[in-house]
Amino acid sequence: MSKKILIFDTTLRDGEQVPGAKLNNIEKLEIAMQLEKLGVDIIEAGFPISSPDDLNAVKQISKTIKSSSICALARAVDKDIDTAYESIKNAVAPRIHTFVSTSDIHLMYQIKKSRDEVKEMTRHAVSYAKKYVNDVEFSPMDASRSDINFLIEIIKIAIESGATTINIPDTVGYALPTEWSKMIYTITNQIEQFNDEIVLSVHTHNDLGLATANALAGIENGARQIECTINGIGERAGNCALEEIAMIIKSRYNNQYFTNINSKEIIKTSKLASQIMGVPVQPNKAITGVNAFAHSSGIHQDGIIKHRQNFEIIDPAEVGLHESGIILTSRSGRSALKHRLDKLGYQFENTEELEKIYNKFLEIADQKKEVYDEDLQLIIDNKEIENKKQKYSLELVQVLSGNKNIPMAIVKIINNSNSQSLEGISNGTGPIDACFKAIDNALDISVNLKEFLVQAITEGIDANGKVSVQIESNGKHYYGFGTDGDIIVASAKAYIDSINKI
Ligand code: KIV
Ligand code: ZN
Repeated sequence: MSKKILIFDTTLRDGEQVPGAKLNNIEKLEIAMQLEKLGVDIIEAGFPISSPDDLNAVKQISKTIKSSSICALARAVDKDIDTAYESIKNAVAPRIHTFVSTSDIHLMYQIKKSRDEVKEMTRHAVSYAKKYVNDVEFSPMDASRSDINFLIEIIKIAIESGATTINIPDTVGYALPTEWSKMIYTITNQIEQFNDEIVLSVHTHNDLGLATANALAGIENGARQIECTINGIGERAGNCALEEIAMIIKSRYNNQYFTNINSKEIIKTSKLASQIMGVPVQPNKAITGVNAFAHSSGIHQDGIIKHRQNFEIIDPAEVGLHESGIILTSRSGRSALKHRLDKLGYQFENTEELEKIYNKFLEIADQKKEVYDEDLQLIIDNKEIENKKQKYSLELVQVLSGNKNIPMAIVKIINNSNSQSLEGISNGTGPIDACFKAIDNALDISVNLKEFLVQAITEGIDANGKVSVQIESNGKHYYGFGTDGDIIVASAKAYIDSINKI
C-alpha cells in the first residue's frame, strides 16, 4: 500500500531567515493561505520568541488557517515554549517544535553544555511542551554531525517524554546521501516506536547541493515527514525544495508514496513566495525556474511537437504551468478563452457564467496587449469574491491628485443587504488616504489602518496590482485584499474587503 509522506513547510521560519526576505504580517498570512491551498500538512509559521511581530504573525495565521497544522518553533527553554504555545493556541491543529543541539561541536562551542545536560533539557522541554499540546516535534540540531549512539539516546528520551515527531536535521548541509541513508536507517532500525503516531522526519539543508537527494534518502529509509521550503529558500544555500520532493514522489514513486500536495498550485505558490520575499527563482531551477519546461534547441522543439514525452518527464500542466501556442488578446473569442480556462482547471457548464467571465476578459484585454493566466486567475478570484456576497461593494471611486492639488476622493459604495448606495467624499494627505477617508465617511465608521501593501501581480507595465491592508477596529485586526489594473481602485476594494470582515 502506498504510504503518505507528510509535507512540513518551513518557508515562513527557516525560509524567512534569509537576509532581505523579512516579511510583514500580511505577507506571512498571504503565504500561509497559499500553502494551505497547496495542501501542505504542517506550516511552520515562525519562531515566536524571536520578536513580537513574529508572535503576532503566528497568532494571526493560527486563527485563519483551518486545514493545515500550525507549528511554532521554540528552543528547549520554558519561556520559548510558553510563547510558542501562546502563538498557536487558537489553531485548529497546533504543534510545538522544540530543539536542542546534539553534536559535540555545538555542545562545546555553541551551547556549552554536557551530554547529560542536553539529555535533561530534551526530557524537560518535550514534557513541558506536552502539557500544552499533544502534537510535539523534537529536533536534535546538527544531528548529521552528532555521535550516532548519543543521538539515539536523545531520540529515545524525546519519545519517552511524549514527542510525536522526531525530526533529524542536517543543519549545516554536510551529509552525503550514502551517509545520511545509513544514519536514518540506523535510527529506524534501532528505535521500534516509529509508526503512524510517532513520525520520523528529515530536515535537510543545501550547502552541498544535496538537500533534495538527502530528503529522498530519508524517505527511502523510513522518514515519513519532509521539512522543506518553497523554491528551496532558506539559510545560506537553502533547504530541500518542496516542489522538488513533491514532484519526485509524484513522478517517480507514485506506487510507493504520496503527498497531499496539489501540484497544480506549485507555480502559483513559487511565484507568490519569490515575489513577496523579493528572492528571484534561478531560471534553471528544477520545477519552478522559467526555463524548467522551456525547450530551445531545434531538435528538442521538434521532438516535443512529435510527442511531448520525448523531452519532457513532467507535463507542465501538472505543476500549474499552461504554456500554450494561443496568445489571448482582445481579438480572442470565447472558444480560445474556454480552452485556456479548461487548461487552468476551470470548467463552466453554465454559459451565462462563461459569458460574464468573457466580458470581464474583454475589459482587461482592451487595457492590455496580452492577457496572461494570472489575469484570468484574478477574474476567477474576483468572481469568487463577488459570489460570496460581501456586505459592501465598491460602485465608484474617483480621485483627484497631483503636485498642484490637495488630493480628493469621491466614492460610492453599495450596501448589498438593502441595495442602498452610500456616498462619501474627503480630502487626504495622498490619494489613497483621501480614498480611505471617503470610504469611512460613506460608511460612517472609523477604523485604524495598520498596514498597507501594493504588489504587481501580472507582467508588464500594464500589470494588475494587488493591495493588501490590515485595519484595526475595537482592538481586533482584520485583513483585506483587492486587485485591479488601477492601484487606487485595488486599494479601495482591499479596504472595503477588510471592513466587510468586521
Ligand atoms: O536546520 C536546523 O537544524 C533547523 C532546526 C531548528 C530544525 O532549522
Ligand atoms: Zn534548518
